[in-house]
Amino acid sequence: MNILLVGSGGREHALAWKIAASPLVTRLVAAPGNPGMAAQAELRDVPATDVPALVELAREIAADLVVIGPESAVAAGLADAVTAAGFPCFGPTAQAGQLESSKAFTKAFCDRYGLPTSAYAVCESAEAARRALDRFEPPYVVKADGLAAGKGVVIAPTRAEAEAAIDDAFGGRFGAAGARVVLEEFLEGEIGSLFALCDGKDSMVFGWAQDHKRAFDGEQGPNTGGMGTYSPAPVFTPELVEQVRTRLVEPAFAGIAADGAPYRGALFVELMATAAGPKLVEFNVRFGDPECQVLMLRLESDLVPYLVACAQGRLAEMAPPKWRDESAVCVVVAAKGYPDKPSAGGEIRGADADFGPDVVVLHAGTKRDAGGVLRAAGGRVLNVCAVGPTLREARDKAYAAVDAIDFPDGFCRRDIGWRALR
Ligand code: GLY
Repeated sequence: MNILLVGSGGREHALAWKIAASPLVTRLVAAPGNPGMAAQAELRDVPATDVPALVELAREIAADLVVIGPESAVAAGLADAVTAAGFPCFGPTAQAGQLESSKAFTKAFCDRYGLPTSAYAVCESAEAARRALDRFEPPYVVKADGLAAGKGVVIAPTRAEAEAAIDDAFGGRFGAAGARVVLEEFLEGEIGSLFALCDGKDSMVFGWAQDHKRAFDGEQGPNTGGMGTYSPAPVFTPELVEQVRTRLVEPAFAGIAADGAPYRGALFVELMATAAGPKLVEFNVRFGDPECQVLMLRLESDLVPYLVACAQGRLAEMAPPKWRDESAVCVVVAAKGYPDKPSAGGEIRGADADFGPDVVVLHAGTKRDAGGVLRAAGGRVLNVCAVGPTLREARDKAYAAVDAIDFPDGFCRRDIGWRALR
């Protein structure tokens, strides 16, 4: 099979690593990919949102499957265009993608189809949002409505900070994504990330993990796209998984199909396990980043048949995936200043070393300069991942590799997995 994989982050490197291991694959092309992905895929310098050029690339390589990594490509209508051009595609249409591209859409969707989520207010102006704060208690949750690369969420302990976050969003900090703001009730409980696949009609749960959203140890600092993950996560008891499946996953797939946009691809349910059961925090219309990294390390089954089955409407023929019994951990190494102003261009040495069979170093935001030196080129730069018989052993291996990599401009959290290890 010839596969076109779209995207350039750690999630896509994890997908490339797993797809390339499949005996079904003869050619894997990544667009635009990253320097780490060059070990698994042929790289083509086509941006993930250049839809016409990606359709052309699918044609050129006679793609048997197009796999969409990032939400920006979903929102750009890539699945619609490659499907119209006759290529099987793993990834939802732009219409189904509204489950991520608009938080206001998703809240109304939850109301329409009875999915449990937090109370909210959609605000079209800073004045309206300031007034609406009266209906909430601190800490205030202020979200830009649109796609903001994981940076559009502020948890504000005080009203003054909430008002500043509102002014920031309406002041253009997130561009068009902040033209509308959603205020939400703060949910108490433990956070979790559960994944499900859907082929337009049938669906299956496809693993779970726990992310760490704050930038610094001890859940301090600003919200990020995610600083590290581990899987399995004990918060996901069989009972919770079943509740998430029946109360969130299945109603979401049924609802979006009833809206006229049957879902094909991975749905990422970010949820809070509250005393009243799971409540939706957000849907994302792709694998999580860095959740995908630990899922791919733990996935024993070949990934490719699942991706193809989603694209071809044959998921009902697939057995549930097999997972390794081990734990997997992913430590995100970010550039200093992330998420606000990550320092660019810092030199990275030793990321390509052989850390043994249990450690995988994935590239998330890197580039090679003209002299071949590896440098930071993004907020989240490397994903240092490891598996081990226990979470503690996996974590120790990951941190040993982190410590062996020389990246003076980087930082990471040192407490990934703390909830499970406490
Ligand atoms: N880890 C959160 C996300 O992928 O958005």
